[in-house]
Amino acid sequence: MSRRYLIAGNWKMNKTPSEGHELAAGIGQVVKKEESVEVVVCPTFIALDRVSQAIEGTAVKLGAQNLYPKASGAYTGEISAEMLRAVFAKYVILGHSERREYFSESDSFINEKVKFALENLLHPILCIGETLEQREAGQTLDVVKTQLLGGLGGVSKEALNNVVIAYEPVWAIGTGKTATPEMAQEVHAFIRQLLTEAYDESAAQKVRVLYGGSMKPANAAELLAQEDIDGGLIGGASLEVNSFCDLIEAAKNAP
Ligand code: 13P
Repeated sequence: MSRRYLIAGNWKMNKTPSEGHELAAGIGQVVKKEESVEVVVCPTFIALDRVSQAIEGTAVKLGAQNLYPKASGAYTGEISAEMLRAVFAKYVILGHSERREYFSESDSFINEKVKFALENLLHPILCIGETLEQREAGQTLDVVKTQLLGGLGGVSKEALNNVVIAYEPVWAIGTGKTATPEMAQEVHAFIRQLLTEAYDESAAQKVRVLYGGSMKPANAAELLAQEDIDGGLIGGASLEVNSFCDLIEAAKNAP
């Protein structure tokens, strides 16, 4: 089964709207038309509109970094799915480890968001991954299983087609430490196995499982060469046109 590679930039809390516009326009110059690799940028909420304008007419797609799972109303500081769609966002990152850690997001809350995103025609990028402490205690696969099945509870086989999973070992995020390709592949294959058990083989084979955590041009090729690694969710290296476009190139050249 060949899955289309996906390279997504998670800009986190970086770039003003005008800086975001400049970065996105630079990426758009390179990613002019649809090719073998799907490209997504995920700016802050306040930059979404400007970035959306910057990528108009290119093949770059827009994603958000979060949403609140209610249609509208008294939820101060939050953003709805409808608002994201209004600026032409297609993807939304959910369950990122930084939100789990700093905002105490639980698997059940993340699951609400995943289901809400799907019902509202957004494609969730569900992030899962273990901390260093959990890895050292031999709990990696248990943690990944709990977060994956917890995040996907109640998601149908049809809807699963619109979900992307991102495996991001927390100890590799922003630290310069990357999981070796073998370590990452082991967990990615495990994720696909869990999806096969929870759904079926053909549904599991269609889901893209991205790797995230200090992915950069120097280590991308060997990660992307792994059978079950279908792209990357990139933090630091997504903040400059050259490094991000080098990652897109690495995905184009991946087997
Ligand atoms: P870095 O690429 O900066 O390690 O961040 C990874 C990440 O958290 C993407 O969501």
